[in-house]
Amino acid sequence: MKVIAFVASPRKNGNSDILAEHFLEGAKSKGADTEKIYLYDHTINPCQGCYKNCWINPNDCTRFQDDMNQLISKMLSSDLILFVSPVYMASYTSQLTVFFERCIPLMNVDLKNNVLVENRGKGKNVVVALVHDAPDLSIADIPFKAMDHVLKNTFQMNIIGKLQVSGVRDKGDINNKDKSLKEAYQLAEKLCAK
Ligand SMILES: Cc1cc2nc3c(=O)[nH]c(=O)nc-3n(C[C@H](O)[C@H](O)[C@H](O)COP(=O)(O)O)c2cc1C
Repeated sequence: MKVIAFVASPRKNGNSDILAEHFLEGAKSKGADTEKIYLYDHTINPCQGCYKNCWINPNDCTRFQDDMNQLISKMLSSDLILFVSPVYMASYTSQLTVFFERCIPLMNVDLKNNVLVENRGKGKNVVVALVHDAPDLSIADIPFKAMDHVLKNTFQMNIIGKLQVSGVRDKGDINNKDKSLKEAYQLAEKLCAK
């Protein structure tokens, strides 16, 4: 089983990163192959809305030759995907927004008849996670809802787990949240159990 974590914080060793690490450790404990991708280490240009080749076979963006083809391949070759982001301005980070925009080539659309022909992300198992400073859990309602819309409704993936950690601001604050870190570890253990 291959598990991939997309970390959408610009901060390495920050709270999202540490949460991802615990999740991946849980997966490893069940024998999974794991990989962590820092989205901010990659060049991902924002979609220009050209509606050219990306929805038509072979589903590639012809506007940009950046890191997205490689990231999509890695995502599609994984059995379980974690997206983890800090809450920024009541949403997830801009780099994750740009990543989701550029996942449009997952879909193959018959533009003439407005019919979805293929969805390469369909059925992928996904865990979504958000960390934030505010103690109030409802701060993540909107970004979780947006993730539902993008991953479930648009890309037809299965969201099979959600993690949320509140009250964390500075790098490493999450290390005081033993319960949340354990929850991430145990969720991955459960999902990767044979
Ligand atoms: C630009 C920016 C915007 C933020 N917006 C919010 C917000 O709207 N709500 C909130 O609770 N925390 C907000 N935060 C706090 C982060 O979510 C918090 O510091 C988080 O733990 C950072 O995660 P990281 O260590 O993985 O980068 C914001 C932080 C930054 C830098």
